[in-house]
Amino acid sequence: MSGSLTNTAGGTVADPTLWGAVLSLHLLGMAIWIGGAAFVLYGLKPSLALLDNTQRVSVQLQSLKKFFFLVWHAMPVMLITGWLMLAFPMGGFGDPDWHIQAMQGLGLVMAAIFLFTFFGPYKHARRALRPQPAVFERIRSLMTLNLFLGLITVVIAALDHFNW
Ligand code: HEM
Repeated sequence: MSGSLTNTAGGTVADPTLWGAVLSLHLLGMAIWIGGAAFVLYGLKPSLALLDNTQRVSVQLQSLKKFFFLVWHAMPVMLITGWLMLAFPMGGFGDPDWHIQAMQGLGLVMAAIFLFTFFGPYKHARRALRPQPAVFERIRSLMTLNLFLGLITVVIAALDHFNW
C-alpha cells in the first residue's frame, strides 16, 4: 500500500482533493473521539474531587452526555469515510493492506465498546435515582479501553504511510 491514495492496481485516483477531504473528515472524527476521551479521563476526572457528591454526579452525567453526543457523530463519520476510501480510491474491499484491515477491525471493536458503554452503564447511570460511583468507574474503564485501542489504531494506521 502506498502512502498516497493510489488504488491497489497502482493507478492514480481521480479527484485527489475530494478524497483528501474525505480523509480529513476521517481524521477529524478520530481527533474528536480520542481527544474527547482523553480529556474526560485525564482532564475532568481529577477535578471531580473538588466537588461534593451531588455536584459530582451532575457534572459527570452532563459531561458524558455532551461527549457521547459528539461520539454519536464522530464514530459514523469515521466508519463511513473509512469504508468510502476503501471502496473507491483504494480499489475495493477485496484484499486491503494489513494496516487497513487492522484499522477496520479495531474501529469496529471500538464502535461496539462505545455502544455497550452507552446502552449499558451510561443508560443505567442516567436512570438511577442516585447513581453510585461504581457505575462511573465502569464507564471510565470502558472509555480507557477504547482510548487505548484508538491510540494503537492511529499508530497502526501511520506505520505503513511511508512504505512506498
Ligand atoms: C471501519 C473502520 C475504518 C476503515 C475502513 C478505515 C480506513 C482507512 C483508509 C482507507 C485510510 C486511508 C489509508 C491511507 O491513506 O494510507 C485511513 C486512514 C487513516 N485512518 Fe482509518 N479506517 C477505519 C477506522 C479508523 C480508526 C478507528 C482510526 C483511529 C482511531 C483510524 C485512523 C486513521 C488514520 C490516523 C489514518 C491516516 C493514515 C495515513 O495517512 O497513513 N481509522 N483509514
